[in-house]
Amino acid sequence: MNLEMRPYHPSDLVALYRICLLTGDSGQDASKLFKDPDILGHYYAAPYTVFEPELCFVLTCSGKPSGYILGTSNSARFWEWCEKAWFPILREQYPLPDIKNTSYDAHIIRLFYNRQIMPNDLLPYPAHLHIDLLPAVQHRGMGRQLIQVFLQKLKELKVPAVHLQVGKRNTGAIHFYSKVGFTRISEEKNSIAFGKRLVEKSPERYSSSC
Ligand SMILES: CC(C)(COP(=O)(O)OP(=O)(O)OC[C@H]1O[C@@H](n2cnc3c(N)ncnc32)[C@H](O)[C@@H]1OP(=O)(O)O)[C@@H](O)C(=O)NCCC(=O)NCCS
Repeated sequence: MNLEMRPYHPSDLVALYRICLLTGDSGQDASKLFKDPDILGHYYAAPYTVFEPELCFVLTCSGKPSGYILGTSNSARFWEWCEKAWFPILREQYPLPDIKNTSYDAHIIRLFYNRQIMPNDLLPYPAHLHIDLLPAVQHRGMGRQLIQVFLQKLKELKVPAVHLQVGKRNTGAIHFYSKVGFTRISEEKNSIAFGKRLVEKSPERYSSSC
């Protein structure tokens, strides 16, 4: 098994949609849950590859895309861009589902219509990320390596901190994030927000607040 990491290339996009679906049910295959196989990728993968492709890295197995890490250095700017440039075209394609529609597709389509606002407790963590590896390439240390490459890139961009959301059912990923240095910031009904600081607060800031 020849595993390599490399920067994203636009020809990876179809594979990213596929990986997103195959890991989209709290880390497990979500393809049986969704009628439309593209919906998850429209929200959780593709916009990042357009907005900040330099923050997208692909894990290949013998050349074949088998995992990725992607995200944004500035969540507020990312959601603003989605409102202007990403969601409008999806709203034309996917009408807002009826309130009685409890399908998985409907749940994600509603996200295309929800204006995302950063909760106060996440504001000090402006970047966010998503990481997904196919089962065949999991547990080989590559998730850790992808996180390291991504965090290094954020440090080069002088981003102070990063967060992510993980479903409470995804116990494997929760263990993983703790192992790679993330700590819990907050909890909602079904998800946990983890964060990691990338730069220490400067001594001036400490002294000025004393
Ligand atoms: C979660 C995921 C990114 C981890 O990547 P990975 O390559 O499998 O993890 P690594 O091999 O780099 O493991 C790094 C550390 O995390 C631990 N870890 C990883 N997966 C774990 C699991 N399922 N249970 C417990 N610990 C785990 C490893 O034991 C390792 O610890 P160590 O360094 O002390 O030995 C990957 O398994 C994955 O993509 N899963 C499916 C999609 C998913 O759930 N994505 C996250 C959505 S929020």
